[in-house]
Amino acid sequence: MSTTYFSVLLLFLCLSLFTSLTTTIYSKPLTSPYLSSTTLFPNYQKMLKSFKIFIYKPNEALTFNSPAESLFYSSLQNCPFVTQNPEEAHLFFVPFRSTISMRSIGRVVKRHREELPYWNRTLGADHFYLSCAGLGYESDRNLVELKKNSVQISCFPASQGKFVPHKDIALPPVSTSHAPHAPDNKTTKFLGYFRQVKLKESSLINELVNDPNFLIESEPSDQLTYTMRLASSKFCLFEYGGDVSGIGEALSFGCVPVVITDRPIQDLPFMDVLRWQEIVVFVNNNGGAKELKRALGDTGGKRYEQMKGLGVKASQHFVWNELPQPLDSFHTVMYQLWLRRHTIRYARWG
Ligand SMILES: *[C@@H]1O[C@H](CO)[C@@H](O)[C@H](O)[C@H]1NC(C)=O
Ligand SMILES: *[C@@H]1O[C@H](CO)[C@@H](O)[C@H](O)[C@H]1NC(C)=O
Repeated sequence: MSTTYFSVLLLFLCLSLFTSLTTTIYSKPLTSPYLSSTTLFPNYQKMLKSFKIFIYKPNEALTFNSPAESLFYSSLQNCPFVTQNPEEAHLFFVPFRSTISMRSIGRVVKRHREELPYWNRTLGADHFYLSCAGLGYESDRNLVELKKNSVQISCFPASQGKFVPHKDIALPPVSTSHAPHAPDNKTTKFLGYFRQVKLKESSLINELVNDPNFLIESEPSDQLTYTMRLASSKFCLFEYGGDVSGIGEALSFGCVPVVITDRPIQDLPFMDVLRWQEIVVFVNNNGGAKELKRALGDTGGKRYEQMKGLGVKASQHFVWNELPQPLDSFHTVMYQLWLRRHTIRYARWG
């Protein structure tokens, strides 16, 4: 008798604890897309005033395979953070082209370590480099230090196993289109929109093709149509590992991005700036269309409106400009580098 009573009481307590927990999670209003806006903005201003970067001289003209790398490199060369005086630099950039072999990268590092004292000072920890696909592990000492100590700037998504979370940085994708402003007559027509750039076998997407709540299409005919799609869909679907170049545009048009993935993602751009969980819905693709619809159903009402609003705010960080603008992709990547300037500097000896 009394054990039954206690179990019922216990069950009741657990249930009320659970409901109060879930209600606090869901009813807490989301007010900022940032992990900490009180640190971000003052610290960003400090960066603008004092950040100094020394670029080693490359011994050849550099070319890059991806638009994100090219834009980053040209913006870096022309930005006011570059200094000719390595003594005042916070960080050092090691340039090399996209198609160079691993052996040649090793030789580049060896040359810098022999010619100037800065590499040996920290064994590369205050250095950074650009590699879209990311470097793997090698046995050459120069490459080991580069990979383990220096900050790698790769493209999002990075190759699996070639990205070190907390140290490395992912460049946000450059959108393939420049969408004009959202049309005024916007009405939500679709629950989810998926732009299929290359026909890829995806069972989850195939399950949705005939669902009238979803619009799955290959390249829309023109820019205005694409913009209309973003503006008239509640959610925009992206497959991690597939084409994610539209995430920034989806955010800016208020189409809440849904990232479908089969594993935890550790290489999101701006991971130490943005609260990704509050602007994007992450869905595991193992659950199929059912799980996707459940997740979208859970993201409704007030929470949906808040996510949408924060996403619009956050979208400025995903914009790449030929001439960098405040808080755009280039500057937000620079801010992430600025956060990584406090490296262990080995004491100079001798
Ligand atoms: C840095 O260290 C390496 C090997 O430890 C050495 O060969 C090189 O000359 C050093 N560089 C400088 C500038 O002293
Ligand atoms: C919205 O406006 C655009 C251009 O102004 C037009 O092409 C489109 O048909 C309109 N859509 C609706 C649903 O009225």
